[in-house]
Amino acid sequence: MSAKIIDGRQIAAKIRATLKEKISVLPLKPHLAIILVGNDDASVIYVRNKQKFAQEIGMRTTLYHLPETTDSAAVLQLIEKLNNDKDVNGIIVQLPLPDHFNVHEVIHQISPLKDVDGFHPYNTGMLQNNEDPYFIAATPLGIMKLIQNVETELSGKNVVIIGASLIVGRPLATLLLNHECTVTVTHIHTRNIKELTRKADIVVAACGVANMVKNDWIKKGATLIDVGINRLEGKICGDIDFADVCGTAGAITPVPGGVGPMTIAMLLQNTVDAYFLQNK
Ligand code: GUN
Repeated sequence: MSAKIIDGRQIAAKIRATLKEKISVLPLKPHLAIILVGNDDASVIYVRNKQKFAQEIGMRTTLYHLPETTDSAAVLQLIEKLNNDKDVNGIIVQLPLPDHFNVHEVIHQISPLKDVDGFHPYNTGMLQNNEDPYFIAATPLGIMKLIQNVETELSGKNVVIIGASLIVGRPLATLLLNHECTVTVTHIHTRNIKELTRKADIVVAACGVANMVKNDWIKKGATLIDVGINRLEGKICGDIDFADVCGTAGAITPVPGGVGPMTIAMLLQNTVDAYFLQNK
């Protein structure tokens, strides 16, 4: 038996098609402002893809591509200007920022009503309280859709998330807890990760280590979500050793074509939601 492939590309394309239809009848097109500081290779590609897919569904984007040496005050000032601009619905600051920035200070500056990345403490705090935030971070939201594509009932499921980042591991753990899962979040100090993942119904790997999760790490029939994008011997691979686990897993996301396209689709969805939130 070979694992079912969870096709993130196809699920994301459906979501974008729905958004495109929604946007087509609006008098003014939703507008996403993107701030990119410096020229981190991966960030430049991510931002280009965000703009490309936004354009395809009829959404407006403005990119503020600032030099690496830009000081924090200038970015805070730009965010304030965008917060007050009624023509801007969503604001994202592409991460990571150069080392001279305090990332928390920058994120706190974004109005929670325009924080379509869902990183502002108002939004993360509301999620933590199991109340309704304005926005939930795009990658965890996309991962939930991928899991729900194969798991009809989440209540009581054991989930192990490998990686405790602010962007993926922490908000995803909260989301899954809010869906009545029993969640374990592992990090670099966790001992015997393998002993934990072997008991999990669902494993989400977001650790950034190429092919770390092997066949003897997983339970038969487990659902595996791979957030990793690593380059190994010139090829893109995930944090899960796809070929190794394929015969044991019940379902798995490919890399590329799994979580990546869903992250962008969810960001676009959040920006459309922002438009309606601000134009009630
Ligand atoms: N860097 C990696 N993922 C993300 C994301 O989802 N949003 C932003 N702003 N930066 C990122």
